[in-house]
Amino acid sequence: MFPRGFAWGAATAAYQIEGGWQADGKGPSIWDTFCHEEGRVFQEQDGDVACNSYELWDKDLECIQQLGLTHYRLSLSWARLLPDGTTRHVNQKGVQYYNKVIDDLLASDVSPMVTLYHFDLPQALQDQGGWKSEGIAAIFDSYAMFCFQTFGDRVKLWITINEPSVCAKLGHEDGVHAPGLKEQGTAAYLVGHNMLRAHAMAWHSYDSLFRPEQKGAVSLAINSDWLEPLRPGCEEDEAATGRDLACTLGWFAWPLFVTGDYPEIMRSAIDSQSEKLGYSGSSRLPRFSKDEPAILGTADFFALNYYTSRKVTAGGGRGQMCMKSDRDVEEVLDPSWFICGVSWLAVVPGGLRKLLKYIKDTFGSPAVYITENGFSQVGPVQMEDVRRCELFKDTILEVAKAIEEDGVDVRGYFAWSLLDNFEWADGFSVRFGLFHVDFSDAELRRTAYRSGREYGEMIMKHKRPT
Ligand code: NOJ
Repeated sequence: MFPRGFAWGAATAAYQIEGGWQADGKGPSIWDTFCHEEGRVFQEQDGDVACNSYELWDKDLECIQQLGLTHYRLSLSWARLLPDGTTRHVNQKGVQYYNKVIDDLLASDVSPMVTLYHFDLPQALQDQGGWKSEGIAAIFDSYAMFCFQTFGDRVKLWITINEPSVCAKLGHEDGVHAPGLKEQGTAAYLVGHNMLRAHAMAWHSYDSLFRPEQKGAVSLAINSDWLEPLRPGCEEDEAATGRDLACTLGWFAWPLFVTGDYPEIMRSAIDSQSEKLGYSGSSRLPRFSKDEPAILGTADFFALNYYTSRKVTAGGGRGQMCMKSDRDVEEVLDPSWFICGVSWLAVVPGGLRKLLKYIKDTFGSPAVYITENGFSQVGPVQMEDVRRCELFKDTILEVAKAIEEDGVDVRGYFAWSLLDNFEWADGFSVRFGLFHVDFSDAELRRTAYRSGREYGEMIMKHKRPT
C-alpha cells in the first residue's frame, strides 16, 4: 500500500521536448550548439523542434490528464528565461510560457516538480568557462533565486541540478554530451564540485529567503545504479563495490547527507589511480572551502534517478563490460538481466529496492522521491509494449516492498518519460515515452502506448488523496 499523498508522476526535460530553440527571444544553450556541430548526435539530429512542447503544451497536458498523474516533473530552460544566463535580461515570453504550464497543471490538480538545470547551460555562460569556472555557482544562485521568486508561490518541489555526474563525466571527460569536452584529469571533478557549490548556494538562498513563506523543498537529483559484488563474500570484490559506490552515489550524496565532503574512499581511490595514470600535482578531487556555504544538510529529500544495476569486481578478466579506471574496478552485467532498448539499460527491478534500503541505511532515512525510472524501445515502434508494462509493474512492486517491508520513506515515483523525446546523443532513436510521438507527422501526434495506459490504471488503483 502506498502512503497517502504519494506522488505518481512522469518526468521530462526542457531540451528534450520543447523545441522552439530560437522562439520569442530564447538564447542558445550548449545543447543547441552541440547538436549543430557535425558528428555529435545520432544522424545529426537535434532538439530544434523535438516534441514542440513550446507550442503544443496543451497536448502534453492532455497526456498528463489522461494518465491521472498527481505530479509532473519538468525542467526550465535557463536560456529561455535568461537568454545570456544572467538576470540582467529577463525574457518575459519565457516567463509567460512556464507560468502557463504551472497554472494549467495546478488547475488540473497536478503538482509541478521543477528542475532548474537539466543539462542545458546557456551558451553565453559556457563561453565564460561554464561549469568549470568558479563564478558559475553564484550565477546559478541568482538564476535559482529568480525562479523561486517568479514561480515559488506555486511550485513546492524543486530540483536544482539533474544528474551532476552525467554532466560532469559525459560532458567534460567523455565528450559525448554538451559541451563535448574530452578532458582527462581534473575537469569532471571540478564540474561536479562547482555543481555542488551551486546547488548548496541555491538551497541556502531558498532556506533563508523563500522557504518561510513558500514552504517548499529543494534537492538535487542523483543518478545511481545499484552495485553489488560479483562474488559475494570475496574481499576484493566487496572492496571494489565499496569504492564504486563511493565514487558514484557517494560523490554527491555523501557531501549532502553525511559529512559535507567527499567520501574518504572516493578520494583515496582517485588519488591512488592518479598515480598509476600519471597525473601529477594535487588531488584531482577539489576541496570545499570553509568560507563558503555549507554543503551538508542542503537536500530536503533524496531525489533518485534509478535505471539499472551492475555487478562489480576487482578484476580478473571475467567478461568485463566496462572499466572504471578512476577507481580501479570492473562493472559486469549479469547475463540473466533483460536489456531494454539501449545497451546500458539492464533492467533489475529488485536493484531499486536494494538501493532504496541502502540509501535509508547510509544517508539517515531521508524522504525519497524516485525522480526518474523508465524503459526504452529502439527499432520498430511497439504500441502494445507488453514487456515495458511488466517492467513498470515489477519495479513499482519493488518500490512497494521497500516501503512496506524495509520501511523506506518513499514519497513518490516519476516515470521517465511522459513522451518519446530527444534522447541526447541517441537523438530520437531511443524512445522512453509513455506516449508515442510521431516525429514524422507535422502535428507530432501523441498516442498512449499500452504501458502508458497501464501506468494510468496503476495510478488509479494506488492513488490515495493526502
Ligand atoms: C536520465 C536523464 O535525466 C534523462 O534526461 C534521460 O533521457 C534519461 N536518463 C534516459 O537516458
